Amino acid sequence: MHIHKYEKLWLLFGIGALLVFTITIGVSAFYMGNQPPSCLVTVDPSKVETTEPFDQPGLRQVGEKEYEVIVVASSFNFNVGPEKVIRIPVGSTVNFIGTTKDVVHGFEVAGTNANMMLEPGYINTVETTFKKPGKYTIVCNEYCGLGHHLMFATLEVVE
Ligand code: CUA
Repeated sequence: MHIHKYEKLWLLFGIGALLVFTITIGVSAFYMGNQPPSCLVTVDPSKVETTEPFDQPGLRQVGEKEYEVIVVASSFNFNVGPEKVIRIPVGSTVNFIGTTKDVVHGFEVAGTNANMMLEPGYINTVETTFKKPGKYTIVCNEYCGLGHHLMFATLEVVE
């Protein structure tokens, strides 16, 4: 009977430890500003180019000083439209909507809080407001292969 009791205790301890562990990971991931992919929003990675809105990557205006940028990442390129430079007026809020055609890529607008992971099969979004004019570099911050350091695009905020 004693052994039985201890087993129960250990089982409870184990479950408790697992819970604490899971919560810690969840909370720390949250505080690091990492957004998990907007879970149920999926896209077939092999059909990205023919799936809306990714069939037309790039900038679109959705309101006064409000924009969307459709981003298609692939090794080793960010497709952000016909031109590699996105131009928006200062004070604009931009919602970046992205996915990847192949492997996991990072998406970070250097110098801002815009930072997300692009995972095959998922659509992820991040929004930021550009209060200062200047050139911002969009970089891949997840190692994705030999051309990882070549993956970038430019966003220009103009007065
Ligand atoms: Cu894409 Cu690193």
